[in-house]
Amino acid sequence: MEAGARAAVAVEAARRSASALLNATPEEIAFTGSGSAGWGMAFAALGRWHPGDRILVGRQEWGGNLATMYRIAGASGARVDVIPCEEDGSVSVRALEELIDSRVRLIALTWAPANGGLINPAEAIGQVARRHGIPYFIDAGQALGQMNVDVRALNCDVLKGAARKFLRGPRGTALLYVKQAALSRFEPPYVDVLSAPLDGMTAVLRDDARRFETSEMPVALLCGLSNALNEALDIGIARIESRVRALAQSIRGKLAEIPGVVVRDIGSVHSALVSFTVEGIPASTVKTELGSRGINVGAIGVTYTPFDMRARDLTEIVRASVSYLNIPDEVDALVEAVTELTKNRSFH
Ligand SMILES: Cc1ncc(COP(=O)(O)O)c(C=O)c1O
Repeated sequence: MEAGARAAVAVEAARRSASALLNATPEEIAFTGSGSAGWGMAFAALGRWHPGDRILVGRQEWGGNLATMYRIAGASGARVDVIPCEEDGSVSVRALEELIDSRVRLIALTWAPANGGLINPAEAIGQVARRHGIPYFIDAGQALGQMNVDVRALNCDVLKGAARKFLRGPRGTALLYVKQAALSRFEPPYVDVLSAPLDGMTAVLRDDARRFETSEMPVALLCGLSNALNEALDIGIARIESRVRALAQSIRGKLAEIPGVVVRDIGSVHSALVSFTVEGIPASTVKTELGSRGINVGAIGVTYTPFDMRARDLTEIVRASVSYLNIPDEVDALVEAVTELTKNRSFH
């Protein structure tokens, strides 16, 4: 109990750091166990869905969010419509405008998708959402910690991201931002003694984002998250961003020169995620082979970003995510290892 009381102070410090990182207030931050837990909780709190209600999503929407939409809104007859893309593959703001009608109840965007270096125009989409008064959810899972996330500039109602990626925080922690002015719209599907304490026989919902938390929290992990947030703030997101983008860009350039390797990043501005395929070798095999050489990459299948993978006729891509701790020698080691794989295609 004594340790718990001390940890509570550390958790509130983490909340202040998180709010500084996102340009939010501490009252607008909730901690959740995963990005999906936060997103799903906020989505479920939007209330009832009706036949004909519409949700507009970017083509790169995270598969877990889509699954939640289909289960909760789809079951009531609501529709999920994909916003068309510009020629470069990014979500089209112009097309979004054309899709909007009185039945649109939510715009959901995955800002930096799981399957590559694309950065969607999250701010411009926020302006459209605001002009039409439509709730706007941003999945910042791959953006958090690698680029500036300013919730005021983004004009979003909800934004979430796990700490384990570019923020380099502990697994099992995530940030959920909920705009104060929008909070009264959200009715969490379940509550506890912290999120809605009883006043007599009435459960009174908190008037801050902690209506999405529970009274019991993994405080040891949140202390780790506090450190990760402070590191990001101390180093500065602008410095992190320029370093990881430069490293990622050098990977793209070098991979593109290897015969049989295709860099799959779409869009015009690229993040620190590099996606590629190797002719004749499944992405999962590339992942295992590189892993055995101490190089950790992801193999991303269709279910993570189903609309985008299908639209581009891709079944799997390899994804290298660069940290600011990576050094140019490691870039070269990756490029060398991929080159070696292409020369030895016995992995077919
Ligand atoms: C864009 C995006 N959203 C959501 C997630 C899932 O986050 P979590 O596992 O914390 O729910 C990922 C994981 O890779 C992701 O890339």
